[in-house]
Amino acid sequence: MTANERVAVQASHSRRLKKRKRVKLKRSRGKRGDCAIISPLVKKYWLQRYHLFSRYDEGVELDEEGWYSVTPEEIAIRHAERCRGKTVIDCFAGVGGNAIQFAILCRHVIAIDIDPQKIALALHNAKVYGVEDRIDFVVGDFFQLAPSLKGDVVYLSPPWGGPSYKMIQQFNLDLLKPKDGYSVFQAAQRITPNIVMFLPRNMDLSQVEELSWLSSPPLHVEIEENYVDGNFKGITAYFSNVAWREA
Ligand SMILES: C[S@@+](CC[C@H](N)C(=O)[O-])C[C@H]1O[C@@H](n2cnc3c(N)ncnc32)[C@H](O)[C@@H]1O
Repeated sequence: MTANERVAVQASHSRRLKKRKRVKLKRSRGKRGDCAIISPLVKKYWLQRYHLFSRYDEGVELDEEGWYSVTPEEIAIRHAERCRGKTVIDCFAGVGGNAIQFAILCRHVIAIDIDPQKIALALHNAKVYGVEDRIDFVVGDFFQLAPSLKGDVVYLSPPWGGPSYKMIQQFNLDLLKPKDGYSVFQAAQRITPNIVMFLPRNMDLSQVEELSWLSSPPLHVEIEENYVDGNFKGITAYFSNVAWREA
């Protein structure tokens, strides 16, 4: 190869490199674009999107409430592991964060939400994970449906009242929505004593223990702290057979 030919090859190689760089820049502009169309409230949660759904890039969709209320995937997997092989009723299913993980590890899932848009998004997201056939999606009010529901485990992740729950020094069961935590728990207990409840990290734990005394004899209860990437995200209370017991 002559010196001139070598220069020509190097020049075309550097053009190819520039082209590749341009493509990369375009892609990263696309991601910033995604972020630009979401509200400032949601931006913080969008930055954590792969902790919420590891398959986010495959088409997962959330509405504004979904962004700040979905259970992070790592925690949802942990909840599902406790219910392995069981039929689980996810009474406040939202955009499907928990229901999808239950569908992967459990026998069957009934996913209920009062908001039809949430159920549409949960169905869409379940399709992204290929588990839509393992979930019955129901639009309805859990309190009205409860007397007719049957399952091995009831999963409760009721609304915590929006992101401002963090400002409260000690969260209590009266602050849960749409009804207080005692009413939610009592409705669940009529289905089964095997209950899993996901609650804020600043929850008054003595109140959670009090829930077990609503039964006679009191239910066995185990409380777990849930972290993602070292950040304290919430607590989970496991009651009755889903609680860990010493042998
Ligand atoms: C904290 S979010 C659930 C998030 C869900 N665990 C997830 O990972 O996507 C609470 C959900 O409860 C729903 N909800 C509120 N009141 C309800 C009711 N009475 N019956 C059923 N769902 C209700 C809301 O629409 C909201 O989607």
